[in-house]
Amino acid sequence: MGKGREVAVTVVAAAACAVAGVMVGRRWVRRRKWAKAMGLLREVEEACDAPVGRLKQVVDAMAVEMHAGLASEGGSKLRMLLTFVDSLPNGTEKGTYYALHLGGTYFRILRVQLGGKRSSILSHDMERQAIPEHLMSSRSEDLFDFIASSFKTFVEREGNSSGFPLDQKRELGFTFSFPVKQTSVSSGILIKWTKGFEIEDTVGQDVVKCLERALERKGLVMRVAALVNDTVGTLALSHYHDPDTVASVIFGTGTNACYLERMDAIIKSQGILTASGVMVVNMEWGNFWSSHLPRTHYDIDLDAESPNPNDQGFEKMISGMYLGEIVRRILLRMSQETDVFGPVSPTLSVPFILRTPLMAAMHEDDSLDLSETSKILNDILDIPEVLLNVRKLVVNVCDIVTRRAARLAAAGIVGILKKIGRDGSSGFVSGRSRGEGKMRRTVVAIEGGLYSNYSMFREYLHEAMVELLGEEAAERIELKVTLDGSGIGGALLAASHSRQIVDTAQML
Ligand code: BGC
Repeated sequence: MGKGREVAVTVVAAAACAVAGVMVGRRWVRRRKWAKAMGLLREVEEACDAPVGRLKQVVDAMAVEMHAGLASEGGSKLRMLLTFVDSLPNGTEKGTYYALHLGGTYFRILRVQLGGKRSSILSHDMERQAIPEHLMSSRSEDLFDFIASSFKTFVEREGNSSGFPLDQKRELGFTFSFPVKQTSVSSGILIKWTKGFEIEDTVGQDVVKCLERALERKGLVMRVAALVNDTVGTLALSHYHDPDTVASVIFGTGTNACYLERMDAIIKSQGILTASGVMVVNMEWGNFWSSHLPRTHYDIDLDAESPNPNDQGFEKMISGMYLGEIVRRILLRMSQETDVFGPVSPTLSVPFILRTPLMAAMHEDDSLDLSETSKILNDILDIPEVLLNVRKLVVNVCDIVTRRAARLAAAGIVGILKKIGRDGSSGFVSGRSRGEGKMRRTVVAIEGGLYSNYSMFREYLHEAMVELLGEEAAERIELKVTLDGSGIGGALLAASHSRQIVDTAQML
């Protein structure tokens, strides 16, 4: 071999070695970054872990805080608000009633015709509108004027078709899905906003007066017969159909629960007597807090950057407003600290860009190549084309966040059942099945898209209920979905508190 040829071969060999070296190096770097991403995943998984032992501690904490919140005002982060609803609709309600429901994301208007028998809702019409974002941080008057003018359009459109007597004042239930300190069944002061609303001048005001003034400005003559939380509306509708209903829970943009409590257990109610001896208590469980909750630094950052820091801690781990946002925060950190998603997408830094329904769609993507996940990553988060194992990583993150939420939600429900002696722990209680040694059938009404539309959330919740209660007791607890209960229940409560109803005999 000539010298020149020898040199050329050596150079080619050296170049090949260098290329191979670079490739090996790159592969090594890629592996290291992938290992880092997996490390972050494991870290989140451990921090979100909620084994049954920990859930039992949450159950006990929920029951203890319920007692504390009932004992004194401010005795617990659980507000345990009196609702002044001491009887639930029983079927004697008759006539046409309206409801306005201001929730988290939507505003609904309903007209409900009641037939005077249990479960006889002859018809109901509903209109739903998204709440314009700018109104969530505007002035109080702007928000209530928007509600009133939407309602006016609804009433004007019905013309004579509703059959509503012209000489009669319309009565309505106002379902207001925020924490309110009620002063009667038809009045109450807003304690604070939740779910991203920030309208300072409503806080401390009677929201019924705010609404009535706005209706007057629009020339509408109405009487607000009942002011109710969405949980209370849901309980009312479910109890109307099924008297075994004792509690209700909302899993929507926000989360909350209410239940029927004995008056003598509501120590802070001092002096308030009810004919039935019970009252519905709006727990405002979104604000529940316990050191047993598995909290991560993603939760801590989310809370610190929210308009209501240190508030609604439970809600921020469970509800539809926040699950997608927690996932986004985890993906952002993974993207910043590894390059599994390629260059960091600026869109991934936009708070609340990943809404929970889209996160659920990735979680429940059952295509072999996770094409739906890929599409959402691309369309919503501007993360183009990632490898299949990276898409699987994303699905894993969604799973961890939702599983924790659902398991904590289950612990919350079991906490209520424990407080009212329906968790089966005090032996199998008598009731309808007295003598048969069986536990009494107990219905918990559930409403909200997180539960109704997200099957993985539902499955994890049911699984945890069985782990906590045991198979036999869990079988006696029915979680029953209501549809539009918040609104229809509001109209039902307007009917049962109406001036037009003569026979108000109530049975619980
Ligand atoms: C509110 C509750 C409401 C729940 C569900 C929470 O943010 O504080 O009053 O019931 O959301 O809508």
